[in-house]
Amino acid sequence: MNRETRILGISGSLRQQSYNTAVLRAAVDLVPEGVTIETFELDGIPPFNQDEERNPPARVLELKRRVREADAILFVTPEYNYSVPGVLKNAIDWGSRPYGDNAWDGKPAAIMGASIGTIGTARAQYHLRQICVFLNVFPVNQPEVIIGNAAQRFDAEGDLTDETTKNYMRQLLENLVELMRRIQQPSTSVPISDRRPLFATSTTSETTHTGIGYQNGK
Ligand code: FNR
Repeated sequence: MNRETRILGISGSLRQQSYNTAVLRAAVDLVPEGVTIETFELDGIPPFNQDEERNPPARVLELKRRVREADAILFVTPEYNYSVPGVLKNAIDWGSRPYGDNAWDGKPAAIMGASIGTIGTARAQYHLRQICVFLNVFPVNQPEVIIGNAAQRFDAEGDLTDETTKNYMRQLLENLVELMRRIQQPSTSVPISDRRPLFATSTTSETTHTGIGYQNGK
């Protein structure tokens, strides 16, 4: 029998009453059957210092181990000044170093975010998607779970109550598992010699943004 699929969930907020941590808590109950979400808290990760990248603190080693053990990553991020919070970027940076030892490499990921504003986290989520390019992380495109007006979607205990939001979250998690399976299981209907990687991991003229494609009008 296949082992359980494990998603590692990371909230980008350290705040005690965080909406985003509450969203992550809710996500734990919205995964498809046979899938679990384990969480990693970003507390205790010191500011990244490249002088220390070959001798990282224990908490960073733990983060990298947990990321590597996971089949997929769920980022639940607030938006700070139109971008991802420093604590999240800091953890991502630690996990990606030293060069050649990027723990995030090849992971499928889902992104969600909650804000007290109307379109909050949209901009942060797009920044995170940009970061994923260099990490070689594959974020699911849709649905985009951008939870605006968060204050209206949680109860007095801080738990997510909005059913529409939960439905989007459920769908995104299903799509994440589907993407993960596509990445992990190569097609058997195509001979190995004819297979192309589902995702290019090296830079080619097709994937690089040198402008070649655009100049050719393709
Ligand atoms: C914010 N907030 C915010 N909201 C938003 O929609 N866009 C933004 O750019 C910012 N910028 C921002 C910067 C800083 C430093 C703070 C502390 C807050 C408000 C943010 O959405 C709100 O504080 C959320 O409650 C943060 O998420 P958690 O901690 O509840 O998960």
